[in-house]
Amino acid sequence: MIFTKATTFFLGTLLPIAVQALSLNITAVTANATGSSVFECWALCAPLEITTQPGLVGAASSFLGDVANMTYTVTSAGFDGGDHHAPYNQWVVPLSGLGIVTLPDDPGDDLYATRGLPNGLIFAADTADVSHLGHGGVFPGYTSTIILQIPTVGNKVPEHTVLHAGQCTSNDTIGLDAL
Ligand SMILES: *[C@@H]1O[C@H](CO)[C@@H](O)[C@H](O)[C@H]1NC(C)=O
Ligand SMILES: *[C@@H]1O[C@H](CO)[C@@H](O)[C@H](O)[C@H]1NC(C)=O
Ligand SMILES: *[C@@H]1O[C@H](CO)[C@@H](O)[C@H](O)[C@H]1NC(C)=O
Ligand SMILES: *[C@@H]1O[C@H](CO)[C@@H](O)[C@H](O)[C@H]1NC(C)=O
Repeated sequence: MIFTKATTFFLGTLLPIAVQALSLNITAVTANATGSSVFECWALCAPLEITTQPGLVGAASSFLGDVANMTYTVTSAGFDGGDHHAPYNQWVVPLSGLGIVTLPDDPGDDLYATRGLPNGLIFAADTADVSHLGHGGVFPGYTSTIILQIPTVGNKVPEHTVLHAGQCTSNDTIGLDAL
């Protein structure tokens, strides 16, 4: 397709409008320069946009990129997975229950992964090539925990800037409440 000034203008009017200065901030489990798994709060470069998708017109949405496949995982209450690496770069979405992500080199800095904000969408990138021990995962509580694991196509890490070291807190997702 050849883009003339006119078609570009026309498409421009159809494209979603970016919500000004509102990035989606998510916690990543990644590795630092000396190979320890650490938490970082990432501001994703993909914009939050007002969608024109039928049925959701006017809602804010962010395209998170292509994914390879999706696995539904149920852990029993009290399950302790031990230290392990992210098998590949992947999104992790807690659907129910509670998962606690621990850092072997930073005991005490635990991430409570639960449905909703601020950590209902996590990116796990501490693969064996970058992290020497990976992270731990325990599932306390009285019920099973359900998570979705969604690796990206080609092991791609979403474009991002590091907002700050450590996990995102409710202060980093407060902008969603205002939408
Ligand atoms: C990586 O993280 C570990 C554990 O938090 C810390 O001891 C180490 O100094 C960090 N390395 C760098 C380069 O920041
Ligand atoms: C899912 O995708 C990952 C990442 O591309 C790949 O390594 C893995 O083999 C896939 N799993 C299945 C069951 O196809
Ligand atoms: C959020 O920001 C407020 C004001 O700066 C601060 O008092 C509070 O501790 C922060 N909350 C978290 C969870 O970091
Ligand atoms: C993400 O963080 C930036 C910088 O602190 C902030 O301006 C923005 O509102 C945050 N996004 C959300 C959805 O809260």
